[in-house]
Amino acid sequence: MAGATQHAHWSSKWAFMLAAVGSAVGLGNIWKFPYEAGQGGGGAFVLVYLIFVFVIGVPMLVAELSLGRRGQMSPINSMAKIAKEEGRSPLWSLIGWSGVVGAFIVISFYSVVGGWTLAYMAKSAMGAFSGITAAASQETFLAYISDPVMTIVSHVAFMGITIFIVAKGVQGGLEKAVTLLMPALFALLLILVIYSAFNGAFVATLDFLFNPDFDQLFYKETVLASGEVTRHFSLDTVLQALGQSFFSLSLALGSIMTYGSYLRRDVNLGKSAVIIASADSAVALMAGLAIFPIVFAYGLDVGQGGGLVFMTLPIAFGQMPLGGLVGTLFFALLAVAAVTSAISLLEPPVSYVAEKTSMSRRKVAITMGVAAGLLGVLSAYSQGSNLLSDVRIFGVNIMDAKDFLTNNIMMPLAGMFTALFVGWFVSRKAMMDELAIEDRSFRIWYFLVRFVSPIAVGVIFVKIIFDTIAG
Ligand code: TRP
Repeated sequence: MAGATQHAHWSSKWAFMLAAVGSAVGLGNIWKFPYEAGQGGGGAFVLVYLIFVFVIGVPMLVAELSLGRRGQMSPINSMAKIAKEEGRSPLWSLIGWSGVVGAFIVISFYSVVGGWTLAYMAKSAMGAFSGITAAASQETFLAYISDPVMTIVSHVAFMGITIFIVAKGVQGGLEKAVTLLMPALFALLLILVIYSAFNGAFVATLDFLFNPDFDQLFYKETVLASGEVTRHFSLDTVLQALGQSFFSLSLALGSIMTYGSYLRRDVNLGKSAVIIASADSAVALMAGLAIFPIVFAYGLDVGQGGGLVFMTLPIAFGQMPLGGLVGTLFFALLAVAAVTSAISLLEPPVSYVAEKTSMSRRKVAITMGVAAGLLGVLSAYSQGSNLLSDVRIFGVNIMDAKDFLTNNIMMPLAGMFTALFVGWFVSRKAMMDELAIEDRSFRIWYFLVRFVSPIAVGVIFVKIIFDTIAG
């Protein structure tokens, strides 16, 4: 551990809260959440999602923040240090490794999608969607993601912004960026929700998002070759909601642990976790309230999947009054949300390498960012009919393979072991001191991280492995 320079700190609680909410609120809220809710049948998915966020996500946020704050180092060295203090195996630092390596992989492809948002902002501003048909919109998206030059230009632009911010450090970069960008994000979101409330099918949206139909949650319909539709029991949607709650809260990849390491002891972690989770859920719901009224008003398909935002919405932007402006604002919102999350993904690898070497933070940020950017080129080229779209890893393209490895393997494992570590391998007394909350809250939290989180996450993991082998 070189660590000659002092570990950085947030200048205030407020700065930390903005940064943590900025990390949580991202493509996961505005791009993924609405389409997963759309595919998962609306209200029931939303309800289960919210339960997971507060019952499993909040305790996990507290666990990760507390490990980071206690360690006061990068996730790898924080885990190593705490394991040593507790007389546990140095292997526990593998949780830190999984976070640092996983965050590096995720930022490599997160930046590709971040680039899409920049490109779509520009397209919208230039009037590319004006009067566009459904077929043309799909064609526009496929042509764009298949273009070897444009996709890299936008990926490089997005990664460049991320590197620029991270290079300037915790107070000079991260904090400055979030204090500027988060209010902009809330303002943009509010404008879009109000626009949708007045111009879209708002009542249908409220019914869709808040009136749960539990059948849709537990039953899946399969269309047989004969054209017959069969229904069978399935937990897929429930497990998807759990995975999404982890992703949306930035758990299990070292982001939150790293942000926790920049905290001083005067911050109440339990309260912070509840605020972060509430803000994150509020943004996801508001994204739904901005998007679905437009989808319903224009008779578009809610279950469109990943194309909902990039292929479906532009059709509506192309028809509505002031659509060019609304579309530009929408993609600007998406880009801002993505940037404040991306910096929290680059930060764990940067904090580790900065600790290990004598390189300046600026150099480390550039080196790690460029390296992740290069890895990201593979993801960008795996889309549509782009240069590497034929490459298959275990049957899927490169982007999906990286997503599977991180989202379905590394995150559940790291999440489960994090819960087991704080629940069973750190002394109860040390945890109580670190959290400094009243007895009853502590007991509830302790029960959740000892039993509920590891079991829930373990179930997801077993199910994923089982599906992969069976499928
Ligand atoms: N939470 C962010 C989103 O919703 C993405 C993200 C940032 C993330 N840091 C993370 C996801 C760490 C998992 C782990 O888009």
